[in-house]
Amino acid sequence: FSLKDYNSFGIDVKAGKFVSIKNLDDLRTVLRKNYASELFVLGGGSNMLLTQDISKTVIHIALKGKEIISEDENEVIVQAAAGENWHKFVLWTLEQDFGGLENLSLIPGNVGTAPIQNIGAYGVELKDSFLSCKAMNVQTLEEKEFSLEDCDFDYRNSVFKNRLKGQYIITSVKFRLTKKDHKLHTEYGAIRSELEKQEIASPTIQDISKAVIAIRNSKLPDPKKIGNSGSFFKNPIISKEQFEKLETEHPGVPSYHVSDNEIKVPAGWLIDQAGFKGYRSGDAGVHKDQALVLVNYGAATGQEILSLSKNIQQTIKNKFGIDLEAEVNII
Ligand code: EPU
Repeated sequence: FSLKDYNSFGIDVKAGKFVSIKNLDDLRTVLRKNYASELFVLGGGSNMLLTQDISKTVIHIALKGKEIISEDENEVIVQAAAGENWHKFVLWTLEQDFGGLENLSLIPGNVGTAPIQNIGAYGVELKDSFLSCKAMNVQTLEEKEFSLEDCDFDYRNSVFKNRLKGQYIITSVKFRLTKKDHKLHTEYGAIRSELEKQEIASPTIQDISKAVIAIRNSKLPDPKKIGNSGSFFKNPIISKEQFEKLETEHPGVPSYHVSDNEIKVPAGWLIDQAGFKGYRSGDAGVHKDQALVLVNYGAATGQEILSLSKNIQQTIKNKFGIDLEAEVNII
């Protein structure tokens, strides 16, 4: 069974066995029949690089459904099943004028995988409107509800990537969204210029969503046309001392304040400066408009993308003394 259509990088690897999970009973059945260590859980497939065939049984989380759980005049709690497409879910909330997820428009992937790496874009992270999620323990087959605190969210990180890795399968997520007095996040430069370009002075949440969609379409490749997994690396966090040195050598290096002693530097800028933007070797390449995105022009293997990523890491290490950490999961 080819997984080519099930990962946004479009890598053609094979799975021995593939099971689609449509309800919680399906999930319990497959967990009862197999040891968790023999299963490979696949959500939207938008944050992974497959580098070899999968001998484990692939379980594709296709749980569907979205609903309003409760509401008052100010807020609404909505719940979506893990297999719902993230962007379609965001559009559904915006159609009803529920605010909170507009900046996260057009992020590839599914609802159930969004909390694992605390997806984020344009000044907003999933954790900002996350209320809780339900997840099934792969050993006990019991569902547990995780609160915001339980999830230990951090920059592209959560408890599900660390202490509880491999132990739970997220089945649904609840969000707390606004019904009025929406809190708009327009501080991000690209959003402000897009709104100005469209001559929108007092934007609605729908305007912000449209602006984000326009920005993303202008510099991020559509995975349906060119295989990719969004940002391939995390933006590295370096010490203030190291940053000052970098700035002397490269005046104008962009940066974000993290804490008194830590500064985040855009990996895309580093990779761009190293001359990789638009680089191509066979069908593996670096996107022409955003150097943080590695792309598959069609027939690249996972190994080819992986070796390109290692080449980039080594070059950045040599040139800037900075370690780049992959943001996508290398399988
Ligand atoms: N830059 C360059 N050259 C490039 C790319 C970027 O010089 O080729 C510079 C830009 O000019 C800008 C800075 O680097 O000054 C940051 O670039 P950008 O605003 O495009 O954002 P990013 O830091 O590269 C992060 C997230 C994205 C998210 C955007 C917008 C990570 C790893 N990536 O990218 O998330 O959409 O901010 O908020 O944090 C993802 O995680 O898959 C993803 C796409």
